[in-house]
Order: sequence, then C-alpha cells, then structure tokens
Amino acid sequence: VSALADEFTAFLLEPSTADPFPLFRRLRELEPVHHTGIDTWAVVGYPEAEQLGRDPRLRREPAAAAQWRPLGRDDDPAEVVEAVDTWLSNFIFRDPPAHDRLRRLVARAFTPRGVAAWRPQVERVVAELLDEALDSGDVDFMTAFAFPVPERVICAILGVPYEDHVLWSTWFRATSEPGNLWTRRAGDDAGATGQVRTDAQQAFVKLCHYFRELVVARRARPKGEDLLSLLVEEEANGDRLSEQELVGTLVMLVGAGHTTTAHLLGNGLVALLDHPEQLALLRERPDLIASAVDEVLRYRGPSRGQPYVTAEEVELGATVVPAGEHVYPYYNATNRDPRRFADPERFDITRGEGPGLGFGTGTHYCVGAALARLETQVALGALAATCDVELAIARDDIEWIYSSIHGPRSLPVTLSRR
Ligand code: HEM
Repeated sequence: VSALADEFTAFLLEPSTADPFPLFRRLRELEPVHHTGIDTWAVVGYPEAEQLGRDPRLRREPAAAAQWRPLGRDDDPAEVVEAVDTWLSNFIFRDPPAHDRLRRLVARAFTPRGVAAWRPQVERVVAELLDEALDSGDVDFMTAFAFPVPERVICAILGVPYEDHVLWSTWFRATSEPGNLWTRRAGDDAGATGQVRTDAQQAFVKLCHYFRELVVARRARPKGEDLLSLLVEEEANGDRLSEQELVGTLVMLVGAGHTTTAHLLGNGLVALLDHPEQLALLRERPDLIASAVDEVLRYRGPSRGQPYVTAEEVELGATVVPAGEHVYPYYNATNRDPRRFADPERFDITRGEGPGLGFGTGTHYCVGAALARLETQVALGALAATCDVELAIARDDIEWIYSSIHGPRSLPVTLSRR
C-alpha cells in the first residue's frame, strides 16, 4: 500500500509525462477514495466521484479559496487582491444559492437549441482554419487549429473581439501555471513562488482590467444580442449580478470556453492516431462522430475536475472522509472504472455510452457541454474527412500538461489533403 501511495504522491507533485492511467488503475483497485501524501483526498472511483457533485455537504467555495486566495494575500498589492476576489466570484467557485443565481444568467445562451444555431459559424471557422493549416502543411496542431477554433467561437457568442486573443491567451496561460501540478492547491507557497507567482498575479490583474474595460464600453454602447450585452443589461436592471461577478464570469467563460475544448481536440487527435483502425472506422462511418467525441472525453478528457471541502464527515463509497478535508475528483481516472464501463482501457468509438464524468456531474456539470460537443464534432469530423495527419515528432516526445487541464502542450503534425 505505502509504495503505491508514495508513487501516487510523487505523481501529484511532479506529474511525469508518462502514461498515468496504469497508476490510476492500481490506485482505484486498492482505494477508490485515497488519502494522499499531500493531505488531500483523491477520488479515482466512478460511483464515489459521481456522489461528489450531488452532495451538499461537499462545498466548492472553501476549496477554491484555498487554491487561489494565496495568490492575493492581505500583504499583496490591492489590485492583485481585487483581481483574485473577482476570479473567485464566478460560479464554478461558488456554492448554491449564489452559484444557481449566476449560472442561470448564462445557461440560457448554452442550451442545446441555442447552441445548434451556431453550427454554420462553427463549420465556417473550422473550414477556414483547416484550409490555412493545409496550405502550410507543417503546423503545431494546437496553435494552428485546436486553440483558434474554440477561441473564435466563444468570442463570437460572448461578443468579445477575437483580435484581442493575442493579449488574453498569454494571460490565461500565466494564470494556469501555478496550478500546473495535477492536484496541488494552486496558489500555495510550494506550488507558486517567485516569478511564476508574480506572473500569475499580473495576468489576473490584466485579465480583470481588460474585461472590465469591455463591460464599461458595452454599457456606454449597447450592442444587442451577444451574451456580454445581455449580462450588462442584467447588471444594470437589478440585483442579480454585481460588476465584480460580471467580470469574473466573463474571465471564466472565455477561459473555460477555449482551453478545455482545445485540449479535447488535441487528445482526440492523439487517440485516433494511436488507434488507426478507429480512425479508419470514423472515415467509413462519419455518423459515429458524436459517439467518437464522447469516447475521447471518457478515454482521455481534458478536465480533471475542481476540488471540494467536506463541511462535515461524509461517507464516500466505503470510505469515511472527516470534516474539513480537501477532496479532488480525477475524472480521467474515474472514467476507466470497470464498475461503470466494460473493458474500460479500450478506446472504442462505437461504445455509445456517453462521456462518463468528462463534463463533471451534479451542481457544477459543464454549462458549455453542448457547445463543446458541437465544436469538437465539427472539427474532428472535418479533420478526419479531409486530412491525412502524421505526427511530426515521436509519439513518446509529446509533452503533456497535467493541471486542472490535461492535454498536449503542443502537437507538431504534417497535414495533407486526402
Ligand atoms: C471539451 C470541452 C469541455 C470540457 C471537457 C469541460 C469540462 C467541464 C467540467 C469537468 C466541469 C466541471 C468542473 C468541476 O466543477 O469540477 C465544467 C464546468 C464548467 N464548464 Fe466546461 N468543459 C468544456 C467546455 C466548456 C465550454 C465550451 C464552456 C463555455 C461556456 C464551458 C463552461 C463551463 C462552466 C461555466 C462550468 C462551471 C459550471 C458550474 O459551476 O455550474 N465548458 N466543464
């Protein structure tokens, strides 16, 4: 037990670029809910993780504060503290009732029907970017395709100028660096010090400043139909949304709206290249694309899941977790639980059993799930149909990110028209 526990703790502290799934499997067989060597609880079993999102004794606010508050302590500059407050005000980091009040305001823009209306635009963006990538042939799949597809789409939906992505994409990267360990509380002294900490602080200040300016401009000149205009109207018309919550929500939506989808595209391409028979099947049967995208989410999803704190003692499966403990779901690990999926280590695009916990569960279930599916189905579908793709580096040389996001850091490929 203790050798495996040590191995898992070592992985959390310094996630190796090697395949973590065998380690997840061994840990899950031993303890689906495991107390780690860094005093957190890792939930790697499916039914136990599913329980997390539905149990009101598991609280998000104290867990988020423990992660991010250390980036903006009392002795930090006021603008940094204010930026961290703003970041923490968004609903992924809130518990009901504030969570529900804020989520309701944006959820109406992301219903399956609302999202379906964006399909022509998504198809246009994908076709344009694929054409450009094919013209150059040798590209980094992540920067040439996987990132710009969701960046352009979320900007259009929100009403944020896409041209500015050169600014904020750098800032988002800096804010995620302190969390670049697969479980360490993001802003703690061990996780983020020195330049990494200062860069992340400055990035938060700039993100909040940028999006606040956008709100001010939109108030002065209402634009109409985009989500930012609707939210600015809500803020003006009542007490349902403060300016801080509005800015925090925008920062989160732009961030959540592109990094996850980008890494799902990267993970999807790698999974298909690793399983050429599945890629061939998808080309033969394009109608499998919805099932294929869900299978990528199950097999190697881009989102680890956010932590909770137990407000009182909670029984998770057979394990009793005391009050006041930090509990981390590992959705990628849970999604290969044989108690939920038969032959779970097999990548099978015909499986048709959904994404498991790839979009989370319960209160914080991904509000952008329909949009993420649409984007990924259109993008991977078009890629498979129109391109031959080869990795331009050795498979083992792919560098993986293990933070709250999981996927390739970059993916040099050679593309040609089929
Ligand atoms: C493949 C793409 C995506 C994946 C895998 C994904 C995954 C997830 C997961 C696992 C959660 C739950 C986090 C937790 O609390 O543990 C979540 C929440 C969330 N996602 Fe996504 N997401 C994706 C795309 C998007 C997009 C495109 C948006 C844009 C609107 C979005 C917005 C959100 C929001 C706002 C939440 C918080 C929901 C709440 O707290 O009620 N996501 N997502």
